[in-house]
Amino acid sequence: MKRIRALMVAGLLLVGSSFTEGHAAASIRYDAAQRVFRIDAGQVTYAFGINGDGAVQTLYWGSRLAAEDALAVAVPPKSRSSFDPPGANTPQEYAGWGGPITVTPDLKLHFADGNRDVILRYDSHRIAGDGLDVRLRDAAAKVSVDLHYSVDPDTGIVGRSARIENQSTQVLTIDSAAAASWNLPPAADYSLRYLTGTWASEWHLRTRAVTPGATVLESRRGSTGDENNPWFAIERGGEWNESHGRVWFGALAWSGSWSIRIDQDILNQVRITGGYNPFDFAYRLKPGESLQTPVFYGGYTSNGIGEASRLMHAFQRQRILPQAPKPKLRPVLYNSWEATEFKVTEPEQERLAEKAATLGVERFVIDDGWFGARNSDHAGLGDWTVNREKFPNGLKPLIDKVHGLGMSFGIWVEPEMVNPDSDLYRKHPDWVLNFDGRQRSEGRNQLVLNLAREDVREYVFDVLDRLLSQNDIQFLKWDYNRNWSEPGWPQVAPEDQQKVYVVYVQHLYDILRRLRAKHPGVEIESCSGGGARVDLGIMGLTDEVWPSDNTDPSDRLSIQDGFSYAYAPAVMMSWVTGSPNWVNGRQTSLDFRFLSSMQGGLGIGAKILEWTPEEDATAKHYIAAYKDIRATVQQGRLYRLLSPQERAPYSATESVATEGGQAVLFAFLRQGQEAQAYPTLFLQGLDAKARYRYRTIHGQVAAGTPEVASGAYWMNHGIDVLLRTDMDAAALVFERVGN
Ligand code: DGJ
Repeated sequence: MKRIRALMVAGLLLVGSSFTEGHAAASIRYDAAQRVFRIDAGQVTYAFGINGDGAVQTLYWGSRLAAEDALAVAVPPKSRSSFDPPGANTPQEYAGWGGPITVTPDLKLHFADGNRDVILRYDSHRIAGDGLDVRLRDAAAKVSVDLHYSVDPDTGIVGRSARIENQSTQVLTIDSAAAASWNLPPAADYSLRYLTGTWASEWHLRTRAVTPGATVLESRRGSTGDENNPWFAIERGGEWNESHGRVWFGALAWSGSWSIRIDQDILNQVRITGGYNPFDFAYRLKPGESLQTPVFYGGYTSNGIGEASRLMHAFQRQRILPQAPKPKLRPVLYNSWEATEFKVTEPEQERLAEKAATLGVERFVIDDGWFGARNSDHAGLGDWTVNREKFPNGLKPLIDKVHGLGMSFGIWVEPEMVNPDSDLYRKHPDWVLNFDGRQRSEGRNQLVLNLAREDVREYVFDVLDRLLSQNDIQFLKWDYNRNWSEPGWPQVAPEDQQKVYVVYVQHLYDILRRLRAKHPGVEIESCSGGGARVDLGIMGLTDEVWPSDNTDPSDRLSIQDGFSYAYAPAVMMSWVTGSPNWVNGRQTSLDFRFLSSMQGGLGIGAKILEWTPEEDATAKHYIAAYKDIRATVQQGRLYRLLSPQERAPYSATESVATEGGQAVLFAFLRQGQEAQAYPTLFLQGLDAKARYRYRTIHGQVAAGTPEVASGAYWMNHGIDVLLRTDMDAAALVFERVGN
């Protein structure tokens, strides 16, 4: 329900829009007398105003205020000294670098005539449905910036982006362009949580104090990267934990080089600026041209980092994913990579498929090695034709077999890359990122195709379109296994070459969008040698992600926990593989491996043809149990009960179904703690008055635990699971009894 309205509150004319989606109501209003914009959504109010200088300044971001609460008119900080003149550190919504400003600008540019001064002032605005557009302009320089605000009524998450337009008669070059800056209430006791990692060791959660100076989270790699993820959460002081504390959080929807910079100035103003990474960036705009930034999403909660994560999860399911607001559940899949690596053959894949089907697998995925001369990672990338030695009659017999067994069929591709030893590279050596006459650094023996080129974009689209048109395929695992190097684009003018950072990703999104439109039945996984391309941008065009190549179930507990701070279990794939694990040689029971993988979208990547009848029975038990709980695990509300970060011995999570009827508890013990008992687990998010019956998927609980008890009992008395030895695990399901 959407309506535009004008209403009188305390004698002021408020013009705006209120709308309801999902459960909550939201409104966007402009108070013309105070010159204040106000967004109310979920449990959040966000407000900014036009100050006396005409600059657009943040006023408030926090818990939802009463509708009649007036927000003070915007007044810029006063001059403190000759070093801080008026306007130098105004917390602007989107600041151009110009005039006296000393805060990190959102936009920095230079004109052909040498001018580098841009002062953005309010020009006009438009409120339409669930969005707000505010135009800023430097009338003399003739540059405008259209700020767009979108609002999610349920979670209160605000999306912000900017479109920069050159309205002058000369060429200008953008040196840096943010999507948005978020200004926090001044304070000296903020701390920052962020995610860091590397291949096979992604998603480590780190905390650091926000102090005067800057912290920069970034990727200079051409893609999202795993060294940092474009997500942040900031909290006041030591108050915060899973369920308490004010948390401001956000994530950038961009899969190219990015930066999120957290500045604290001498006035204790904290500003979070996110967008294209300014490193090696330049984007030339001729008269009349514009640049659209990605969206930087931001949210707030006063209920701790746990609630911040749940808001992000709900937002991704309801707003971001291609199948939003009702993404399909992830099917149980089998992937042949760890079993066969490049040695794929039709008979063995068929045997694997037969075995997988008997276990209850629903999707069979053939990984790398099915195409071109791809017998190792040295050759074949780029040649997307079936290898006839491995599949003499093409893919059809295997696909028919898989379908006949009642499973959907998926296949691996890495379409943005090329091995120098490939027909594609021999034909088009100029198609890769490179600087003329300079060395082309290889990673995993491959080079990056320059997707910014239109011919390359069309080639990649055509190849995938043909693959999907000629074969009955339901799923693509889309891999991307290296960073950029030598990011030159010799075919365009030198002053336009750095546009590659923007155009490459736009073309990637374009290919994904067109493929999805033409093949609506095909789901896609974003994989980048593990979790190096997970962000809200790629997530808008893919159905699931691969968080890490590290499939050791103990390491995976930390990886999955870190992932869950920013991203939803609904997209987090996890495989049961062999023991000892190839990453670290660690031996674990099949029970432990299954329970660890059941925290996300369950997959199997083990050598299942070698499993014993006992192992088959174990696998069947867990796969059947998973199908009963997967809606809760994937799409329910996640509570992190015991953190496995910093290699803690314990890890426990609870997922509660959206409508509250089921809760699933996972508990893991990495290392026995002498003769000590496992910590009592206090459930969360249940209806205190309702009654819940528990059953075990695996493990035991303390003697005397009632089979049925109230939500209040499980949340306050808690439950004791009996875990004592190394690599032990338990899983319990709580079902509401009656209504
Ligand atoms: C890296 C992926 O993360 C693996 O799962 C596998 O698909 C290999 N690439 C194949 O080359």
